[in-house]
Amino acid sequence: MSWQFVHVGDMQPGSPKSFRYLPALMENWHTAKAQIQAIGPELVLVGGDITRDGNVHRFELEEMRSELDDLGCPYYPVPGNMDTGNKHTAVEGCHRRNDNQCSDIELNVTSGQLQHFSQVFGPLWWSVDHRNVRFSGVADVMINSGLPEEEQFWEWAELQARRAPADQHVWIMHNALFAESPDEPNWDITDPVNYRNWYFGTDQPGRDRLLDLFKRTNATIVISGHIHCRRTVMAEGIRFDYAPATAFGQWGDRWPDGDASLGFLLYTVHSDRVDCEFVPLETVSQRKDVYGVGGHPCPAARDYSEAWDQSFARELGGRVPSQADLP
Ligand SMILES: [Fe+2]
Repeated sequence: MSWQFVHVGDMQPGSPKSFRYLPALMENWHTAKAQIQAIGPELVLVGGDITRDGNVHRFELEEMRSELDDLGCPYYPVPGNMDTGNKHTAVEGCHRRNDNQCSDIELNVTSGQLQHFSQVFGPLWWSVDHRNVRFSGVADVMINSGLPEEEQFWEWAELQARRAPADQHVWIMHNALFAESPDEPNWDITDPVNYRNWYFGTDQPGRDRLLDLFKRTNATIVISGHIHCRRTVMAEGIRFDYAPATAFGQWGDRWPDGDASLGFLLYTVHSDRVDCEFVPLETVSQRKDVYGVGGHPCPAARDYSEAWDQSFARELGGRVPSQADLP
């Protein structure tokens, strides 16, 4: 008998309590949620960028946990860079810091941000068996960071590689493992031509180490988000599904087989295979009202006086929130 699960990600709806908000992204998430509820999958994988500024605001993480609790089935999340900070770099990128925007190094994931996410959503890495499928997830933004959490993850990963294999093993991560192929070089963050290749993928040595883990745990499918452009690539005998976003599309012109349409992935598990189907959003919000700055604004550019819901601004009492506002 076949059964179904869903992968949804890159919703990043934000909040009217924040220094910026696009209600269109929240409307798109609500459309996706209603479609998932109507399908009634046995579980949902949540592929990160669950929030727009969850790395700064605990309330955004909590608001989205309430949203996901409405799904009516178990769900298993991994964080994305908007939830916990970006993948690590020791070198500044080509987009230098300015009065409004953080530099790449300033955006590096921190232990505080990872623990913040974990306090709201649970473990940063996990593995569950459901029927004949094993599902595993990892907060891959910490890979290559050297943070204590990364070492703890690799210790756990070694134990996973020694387990008896399942019929099917589906891994989820937020960043793509690679842009083109597993053997591509580390892309140069200082090169404007290759900046997005760097931003969307996973650097060495973590890339090879993760791929080795996937092979040793008999992974059959690896699902990633972050790029907001759907496509499927076969590599090393594993199917890599690059998932769509519900928020907005990106990089639709990057690959001939790429599709930046908004929606989510519906998987049907049979006794001998797992089929994947793209489910487009039934409606894409046309709301244009918006406030606040885009990109990755630095603290001084976060103006809470613009917030439609002033409750958080009142809590701050005129301060700019920082890591100290995280528990
Ligand atoms: Fe992302």
